[in-house]
Order: sequence, then structure tokens, then C-alpha cells
Amino acid sequence: MPEFAGEPSVTIAPGVDMPLIGLGVWQLELGRETYDAVRAALDAGYRHIDTAAGYRNEASVGDAIRDSGIPREEVFVTTKLRASEEPESGLTRSLDRLGMEWVDLYLIHSPRGGSGRHWPALEDQHRRGLARAIGVSNWSDRGLRELVADATIRPAVNQIDFSPFSYSRATVATHDELGVVLEGYSPLARGQGLSHPLVGAIAERHRRSAAQVLIRWSIQQGVPAIPRSRDRGRIAANRDVFDFALEDSEMEALDGLGY
Ligand SMILES: NC(=O)c1ccc[n+]([C@@H]2O[C@H](COP(=O)([O-])OP(=O)(O)OC[C@H]3O[C@@H](n4cnc5c(N)ncnc54)[C@H](OP(=O)(O)O)[C@@H]3O)[C@@H](O)[C@H]2O)c1
Repeated sequence: MPEFAGEPSVTIAPGVDMPLIGLGVWQLELGRETYDAVRAALDAGYRHIDTAAGYRNEASVGDAIRDSGIPREEVFVTTKLRASEEPESGLTRSLDRLGMEWVDLYLIHSPRGGSGRHWPALEDQHRRGLARAIGVSNWSDRGLRELVADATIRPAVNQIDFSPFSYSRATVATHDELGVVLEGYSPLARGQGLSHPLVGAIAERHRRSAAQVLIRWSIQQGVPAIPRSRDRGRIAANRDVFDFALEDSEMEALDGLGY
């Protein structure tokens, strides 16, 4: 399995490996809240942070990474172009807020922002070394197929909602076929998947938390997961999923919660 800074990873583009677990920071406030969560994640061993211009907390992500003393090249940072931003200037502004010279992954946050029209600008930013890899988020299977057909540089990832509750076998197959890594967001179904009885029963069998079961389900599919938490203990526990495995029958039962 590839590794990034010692973390189990997936290769998303030539020479670019992304850790399978990252901290998502959507809805964390700029300042103390984001800063503390990112520091807690880095202390716990995370080397992957997922932010976005739209989350309005990039500056605190950058501060926390710098203050951690961990070399910049040992933390995988994703940010995203907001729908209202111009693609030519969006990344430069994000880099200013992050206080970084490059990001590891730059995504178009939503096809609503102009769909494939913006892609050539991202290709240019990648060529200029401002983003080690580029991709999209919230693209439908059909939209992704069209983008791949038109692109000079294939999108490295499509970041989409991915948990047993949103699982689609057809979508996984489309990403495989197109050679685009499916990166999952909301692995805990925004916290709402944690109380499902099936998840609870599997967690009890493995003496794990419901969150660990859902995160394990994702990475056992080979899909990177970026759970969010404000809590230092839960942040650490959410990464502690590499020393157990779900049975095939448990994976299938969880798959069955999707559509
Ligand atoms: N590209 C996109 O359009 C998009 C959309 C949505 C999300 N994302 C990304 O994906 C990340 C994760 O998704 P998400 O924020 O929607 O939600 P999520 O990770 O599915 O769930 C987060 C919720 O689960 C709770 N939680 C976390 N760990 C827990 C644990 N061990 N035990 C109990 N509760 C726990 C958190 O509460 P506490 O804070 O209290 O622990 C929070 O309420 C985002 O932060 C963002 O980076 C991207």
C-alpha cells in the first residue's frame, strides 16, 4: 500500500499519494476551533487536512500546520474553489490565506460553479506547481464522464458523499472505469449514521465505536475518508481503524443500506 508521511494512502496521480484518513474542517469556526482541531489531528498522527475557500477557515488551517513544526511536505492539504470565485484567482487567494506555496489537491467544489468550463484554469495551476493534483467535487457520474472526455489532465479525484447510507455500486464502478479516485466525504453521514442499529451491532462485535466502523467501511472499500470532529478524543479515535477489519458479510450488510 502506498504511504504519505507514513500514513496508509492511495495514489491519486503520478507521484501523488493521499492518506486514506484526513480531518475535514467544514463548519469549524475560523480561529481557535479550527486551529485546535487541526493541531489535535496532527498530534494524533493525521497527515491530511480537508478545507475549502467556502469553509472560511483556511488561515487557521495554515497557522496550525505551521505551528506544529511538521514539514509542509509531510501534510497533505486539500482546498476547494468556491462556486462564486473566479478559477484564475481562487487558488492564489486560498494559498495567501493558508500561507502556503502550493496545495496537494485543489478541487472545484461544485459543478454549479461553471462545471467543466473552469477545468483548463486548474490544469494551468497544476502546470505552474500551485497544486500537486487537481480534481472535482460533487460531480455526477455523467458529468465526470464528460469532464474526463474533454480534459487534457484527468481529474485525480471526485470528492463525493460516501457512507453506507449514500453508497452506490454503480458510482464506484464509474470512478474505477474512468480512473478517477473516489474520495468520500461525510463518512459518518454528518453524525446521523452513528445511531443506526446495524452499525451499532457491528461495532459491538468488534468492540469499536460506530464511527470507527463507518470509517473502516470506507477505507476497506479503498475510499479515503475525511471525518470531521471538534473533539480531540474523537479526532484521535477516528484514525484508529487500521488494526481491525470488517468481515465480508458485514461489508455487504453495510453496502445494503445504500440505494
Ligand atoms: N466537498 C463537499 O461538498 C463536502 C460536503 C460535506 C463535507 N465535506 C468534507 O467532509 C468532511 C466530513 O463530513 P461532514 O463534516 O459532513 O460530517 P461527518 O464527518 O460525516 O460527521 C461529522 C459529525 O460527526 C460527529 N462525530 C465525529 N466523530 C465522532 C465520533 N467518533 N463519535 C461521535 N460523533 C462523532 C461530529 O461531532 P463532534 O464534532 O461533536 O465530534 C460531527 O457532528 C467535512 O468536514 C468536509 O471537510 C465536503
